[in-house]
Amino acid sequence: MSFEKMWLNYKKNEKSQLINRILCGQSIYVCISDDKYQENRVIRTAAKELQEAIGDILHITVDISEKTQKTVDECIEGIVLRRNHLMEKPDAYRLCEKDGLITVEANNGRGILYGVFDLIRRLQQAIHLKDIDIMETPDNPLRMLNHWDNMDGSIERGYSGKSFFFKNHELCINDRTHMYAKLIASIGINATVINNVNVKDSATELISSRYYKYLQVLSEVFADYGITLYLSLNYAAPIDLGGLDSADPLDAEVIAWWDQKMQEVYTHLPHLSGFLVKADSEGRPGPFTYGRNQAEGANLLARAIKPYGGTIIWRCFVYNCQQDWRDYTTDRARAGYDYFAPLDGAFLDNVVLQIKNGPMDFQVREPVSPLFGVMEHTQQILEVQIAQEYTGQQRHVCYLIPMFKEILEFKTYCGKDKDKVSDIVSGRTYGQKLCGMATVVNTGNDTNWTGHDLAGANLYGFGRLSFNTSLSAEAIAKEWIQMTFGLDPEVEHILLNILTKSHSTYEKYTSPLGIGWMVEPNHHYGPNVDGYEYSRWGTYHRADHLGIGVDRTPQGTGYTRQYKEPNASMYADLESCPEPLVLFFHHLKYTHELKTGKTVIQHIYDTHFEGVSEVETMIREFKRLQGRIEQQVYLRILDRLEEQLESAREWRDQINTYFYRKSGIPDEHGRQIF
Ligand code: GCU
Repeated sequence: MSFEKMWLNYKKNEKSQLINRILCGQSIYVCISDDKYQENRVIRTAAKELQEAIGDILHITVDISEKTQKTVDECIEGIVLRRNHLMEKPDAYRLCEKDGLITVEANNGRGILYGVFDLIRRLQQAIHLKDIDIMETPDNPLRMLNHWDNMDGSIERGYSGKSFFFKNHELCINDRTHMYAKLIASIGINATVINNVNVKDSATELISSRYYKYLQVLSEVFADYGITLYLSLNYAAPIDLGGLDSADPLDAEVIAWWDQKMQEVYTHLPHLSGFLVKADSEGRPGPFTYGRNQAEGANLLARAIKPYGGTIIWRCFVYNCQQDWRDYTTDRARAGYDYFAPLDGAFLDNVVLQIKNGPMDFQVREPVSPLFGVMEHTQQILEVQIAQEYTGQQRHVCYLIPMFKEILEFKTYCGKDKDKVSDIVSGRTYGQKLCGMATVVNTGNDTNWTGHDLAGANLYGFGRLSFNTSLSAEAIAKEWIQMTFGLDPEVEHILLNILTKSHSTYEKYTSPLGIGWMVEPNHHYGPNVDGYEYSRWGTYHRADHLGIGVDRTPQGTGYTRQYKEPNASMYADLESCPEPLVLFFHHLKYTHELKTGKTVIQHIYDTHFEGVSEVETMIREFKRLQGRIEQQVYLRILDRLEEQLESAREWRDQINTYFYRKSGIPDEHGRQIF
């Protein structure tokens, strides 16, 4: 088993050494309280992490000494890690330096750990510690990873090797588990779901004596880093595990089964924070089977888990996946809102709805889900996907943080002052406590964790952004580059350029103007314009010889009406509809003139040629880094970029040829189309 340390690969940093002499000959003083076992363990982790980082980055040995509150207050130099009860917000921290005394303080152990990782970031980036005074409060209470790992070691939509949590239906707990905890804690992640939302086979038994012992050990590893463990749950467990003949949420036997099961689970797994549930979705069982609604389903579990302080995270990815492509009235995009919006207020207070960023499924461009901003009395989490299922599968570079920023910045017009998606999921809009952001994560047991080395920026970026949604995508990328590759300005310049343009480049050579889906069915890699056109999945582009796009206006499927005004009219009116999404909302002729003055067809041709040429430029630029970054990493990235180019050409030629053959309209510039 070998693995790299990603952005925590500390190297000696002479610049930092020079400016941060202040740490020479110092000690780390940790304030430990007798009655706070859980907090103390995280504070001790923080001290050890800091000691290691100072040793590796500054080549200075510091010792750790444990103090009481009283004796720690007497320290006049060194680094003090202490709890401060006056700081109200959990996980927030203050980091300051005054007259040679560096203090990291927080209301809880996790806050101290985050403050320490902030300090380490500064050491890696050679930022002067003198006189700093920083106060950071996380925007989102929950900052979660969702692993789609299966018990046999495979990963659903995994593009970086096998699971490091499961192998042959057993749990793996080893050095890599510790490194994982350290990596994700360093970016502010405080919760993780280790198994696939599609809970099948032995995963159903994670809530049985077969696995409790191992899960308990795992949760202890996580607890040292302030990370709480969640599991994905099989809604039909009363049948599959309990031998009942129903999973009806209103059936007394089912209710009693869950009550007893949760009691058993929490006897063995006291650190477990709760469950993530995919129900009534893509063949998974759920309350609909029994004529019940989604709230009745979620509340059944929420009630059973309530005595233990647990949370049920209920996914809103519920839609009919047995659609008929001939049917123009059913619209998959409408499903989430249609099922969930009327249930606002019906969920118990330990239920959180997890809503995908868009109404479809993680396409390179989708509008924001209209569910954000219509559920005032319901706690919500935004779900994004850094596993690049539809964005190049970690064979292509696609830095997703700019897209996540756009989603967070979207104004819902929900009628409150703070009405952006970032306000809603942080709890600022409606004052909710259990909310935040989750991502389907991109890790596996590849040496570099994410397959493509540059995909590490998405993992790092998700953590940093979910902690502080006001950070810019560029600032995050810069940090990641400096911490991962060091402080060479040329490396920073070139990689930053590649990362920040990569999403737009990917969009150009794949599906145009928000239409999405033109991928190979099942595995979703590479172009296939009609791959899903005549299928049951509800993902159609409706292209014919005259035009393309889905009419989702009130004259069409009526989807635009799910948004609050003025968004509803903005999307419904062709004049005001943002052009990058125009084919998502409107069916247009190929000859329709866009605001750029180009016709739809010419836009398709141009962007596809441009996208490929941007990948060529990327490769040319990247090659200037030979000798400036580690050779093995250089070759790994180059290999992926070359594959990306080949794939981008395939996209360009298939898409352009398809639309040329459909429309019979030639490219104005006479470039080669087949
Ligand atoms: C997509 C993905 C599935 C996944 C599903 C989900 O449809 O292709 O693999 O199970 O999303 O989010 O549940």
